[in-house]
Amino acid sequence: MKRREFLLSSGATAGALGLGGFGFAQGAQELTIQPASFALRDQVTTGMVSLSADAPPPVLYGKQGEVMRLPVRNTLPDYTAMHWHGLRIANKMDGVPYLTQMPMGEGELFTYEFTPPDAGTYWYHPHCMTMEQMAHGLTGVMVIAEPEDVGFDSEQVINLRDFRLDEDGAFLPAHTQRGAARAGTFGNVHTANWLQSPVYDHAAGSLVRLRVVNTDTTRIYKLHLDGGAARIIAWDGHPVEIDLPMPSADEPLLVGPGQRVDFAIAMPGSEGESVAMMAKLPGQPAKAMASLRAIGSSAGRDLKDLRPLPLNPVAKPDLNNAELHEFVFGWTPEGGEPNNGFCGSLGYNFWSINRTPWPGDAAEGAGPLATLDLGKSYVLRLRNESPNLHPIHLHGLAFVPLRSNLRKLPRLMTDTMLLLKDEVVEIALVADNPGDWAFHCHVIEHQKTGLTGFIRVV
Ligand code: C2O
Ligand code: CU
Ligand code: CU
Repeated sequence: MKRREFLLSSGATAGALGLGGFGFAQGAQELTIQPASFALRDQVTTGMVSLSADAPPPVLYGKQGEVMRLPVRNTLPDYTAMHWHGLRIANKMDGVPYLTQMPMGEGELFTYEFTPPDAGTYWYHPHCMTMEQMAHGLTGVMVIAEPEDVGFDSEQVINLRDFRLDEDGAFLPAHTQRGAARAGTFGNVHTANWLQSPVYDHAAGSLVRLRVVNTDTTRIYKLHLDGGAARIIAWDGHPVEIDLPMPSADEPLLVGPGQRVDFAIAMPGSEGESVAMMAKLPGQPAKAMASLRAIGSSAGRDLKDLRPLPLNPVAKPDLNNAELHEFVFGWTPEGGEPNNGFCGSLGYNFWSINRTPWPGDAAEGAGPLATLDLGKSYVLRLRNESPNLHPIHLHGLAFVPLRSNLRKLPRLMTDTMLLLKDEVVEIALVADNPGDWAFHCHVIEHQKTGLTGFIRVV
């Protein structure tokens, strides 16, 4: 285990340039889930899913502590429901079919309304027909701004994800039985904001907040920055209170599906120089997923000009009075086909939590994996007894890793814990948000073949 293989995820930034975003003030505008086409390669790929006919899902902007109203309309023949990953909001707005709402059929509207309690980098994706809709494009970034100016000159969102295409730009099957039983099925076209190696202009010598989000259905990105001076300032939405080593080509940052990392970057002072977000992909040299190019004369700013980000109001667990719950993630080949109702099944089950494969979103009588008392502190022991990595995600609550049997884990607040091969990690949380909270692997082929459940807080 390399020293830095301890954390991380990826992110996306929209910022002043690039991907147009929807501001919270425009939140009443309908978000329409619809078919889309886009030139992911030289040819146009059809059969995509987005919120407009010819562009990626926009960055959605909100502000900490201010209400967001997001009417979502489904125009697909398939069912759907929208989930806001990492936001600690009311359970009935969490977008999990059968658990928190019924799936939305063709033509139906569901208005999501919530007040994000935390600032930071989050994202959204469907939680019904998940494999089909996410693999075909429907994964977008949410930026929840701090109420006060935190001192950057500009921002850049980078939404990292792959698509699985043939030579003509047509979709290949997004999942395979072989992949589902192992690490998942990987895409072969690697994109940032649906583009291959886009270049974004930012003022020379300025301070840029880079928000990187891994919205892929499978890939654990191995990232580092090349050029400029930079620091990691947030992880999975929450400000980082300690000095983290900057990743490098030899010791990249692991960013699993669902995870985010924010960097503060001081742009190079000379026009034309750039900072590249590099990814190490199997069997090839590190590749620039996206670059920031310095333009104009130097603004002369320095990382030291930045004050730490204000902390989010996440309760600190009381470790002396925390009850322990154990969870085992593993392979369970004898599971039958899950009953996912209107939300799509891959047709088989391979995985389980506590040796029970998820019987399906629409299965009658599927109870919680654990019931937690509202307001109490808990330690959850997460044991991976498989050789595959699993980004384990809990909805509605933020948690902090305490210890691992394999590595030193920095105590970074998160909603998604990447478990390595044979790793056992203890995490702690305060169960301060009532409801039924989905708890699953974010490798979608694992999620959809048994590695799912929920935790109840009452
Ligand atoms: Cu990002 Cu249950 O999801
Ligand atoms: Cu989530
Ligand atoms: Cu998994």
